Amino acid sequence: MQSFTAKFDHFVLAIEGESIDELLESLRLMWRSREISIEVSCANNIMMDSYPGTVGQIITNFCQNTMLHAFKDREIGHITITCCQRDNLVEIVFADDGIGISKENLERIFDPFFTTSRHQGGTGLGLHIVYNLVTQKLRGNISVNSTEGLGTRFTLLLPLKVSGN
Ligand SMILES: Nc1ncnc2c1ncn2[C@@H]1O[C@H](COP(=O)(O)OP(=O)(O)O)[C@@H](O)[C@H]1O
Ligand SMILES: [Mg+2]
Repeated sequence: MQSFTAKFDHFVLAIEGESIDELLESLRLMWRSREISIEVSCANNIMMDSYPGTVGQIITNFCQNTMLHAFKDREIGHITITCCQRDNLVEIVFADDGIGISKENLERIFDPFFTTSRHQGGTGLGLHIVYNLVTQKLRGNISVNSTEGLGTRFTLLLPLKVSGN
């Protein structure tokens, strides 16, 4: 059994007619029969003039990491995605209640080629790419909090409008 919750109408990803519901629907295939729930809560009046595909790529990357790392060897897990507007910024928080990341590793997760899964096919490039997309293409910033055994939380702060877009 798989549970899946996504509730809201206009997410930031709805800019080019692509909604996060559709994205999550396809990501759901990743978890196959595991009982991973995704709960999305988002104010429905946020309108971004940015790159929806890039935001989608970032969320996809986070989801892949929950699969590979956070919920490795686990049958049950919860993911929450929340977004809200703060003045001319959008805050997107992606959180899981998986294994978490040690303090030592936390300082290195955005480094290119840093991976704890070298033998399981990890390249260590996922979060490095995310970091570059957030800071360069989306002109925002990213921070991470994690407690071993409790989970991991990524916070993105993105400008509502990316100039030149
Ligand atoms: N949600 C998560 N929970 C626990 N560990 C994570 C999570 N996301 C990333 N990590 C850690 O950060 C490292 C780097 O992630 P990433 O750059 O995506 O590389 P890769 O997934 O190829 O290992 C991972 O190897 C893992 O140790
Ligand atoms: Mg990865």
